[in-house]
Amino acid sequence: MGVIDSSIGRKAAMAASGALLLLFLVVHALGNSTIFAGWLNTYAEHLHSFPAAVWISRLVLLALFAVHTWYGVTLTLENRAAKPHGYAVAAHRRSTLASRTMIWTGLAIAGFLVYHQLHVTFQVIHPEAAALANRDAAGRPDVMRMILVGLKHAGTAAVYLLGMVALGTHLFHGVASSVQTFGLNGERSFPRIVVAGRVFAGLLALSFIGISAGILAGFIG
Ligand code: HEM
Repeated sequence: MGVIDSSIGRKAAMAASGALLLLFLVVHALGNSTIFAGWLNTYAEHLHSFPAAVWISRLVLLALFAVHTWYGVTLTLENRAAKPHGYAVAAHRRSTLASRTMIWTGLAIAGFLVYHQLHVTFQVIHPEAAALANRDAAGRPDVMRMILVGLKHAGTAAVYLLGMVALGTHLFHGVASSVQTFGLNGERSFPRIVVAGRVFAGLLALSFIGISAGILAGFIG
């Protein structure tokens, strides 16, 4: 059995892909925060002035996501099949709702991502506000309008909110869990890592939710 095929190898692959996906999310949250200053179109224009980098990062993200999802689903199924009933009850007492629902929040994030890509990349949801077809006053693709029209729509806003709550819940357990997989689980340091991971998850999810809430409340746009 190769290293990657072993349970430890697959957990390490999940932790590493999860950490890199998290890095993308931090960069994405920082980029999105330009919306508060009304600079989203400037940011998007800069991003797309490096088409090769955009395409490479898309392919890397897709590969990371495929690895993370495949190992997440297969490890969950194997663990469920292997656990005797008594052990499952004992483990339940030590676990949190977030840790027990990782598979479901993960699948909810996957569903949100398909919707999000149909909205902002393929631009087939709210096509009347597609950034590729509409220009702002400076002649740039109007990404700002695409986001505003989408997130003011009740159904689209609900999908985004559910996706971002699922993300926050997934990371509430996932951040510390990936750190633990890499062996940083000392008796004194680990409880602090768990708290830091939860705070980080909450802040990241809130940074996305803040945009959605700001648009719905009329602070943005
Ligand atoms: C209010 C919240 C969000 C807003 C306003 C937003 C906005 C955007 C925009 C405008 C793009 C297109 C960038 C471009 O190519 O010009 C984008 C791409 C993307 N977003 Fe978001 N996003 C949000 C939340 C999220 C969340 C929570 C995730 C992950 C769980 C996510 C994952 C992605 C991914 C993977 C891409 C594709 C990158 C690409 O195609 O190059 N986004 N987002």
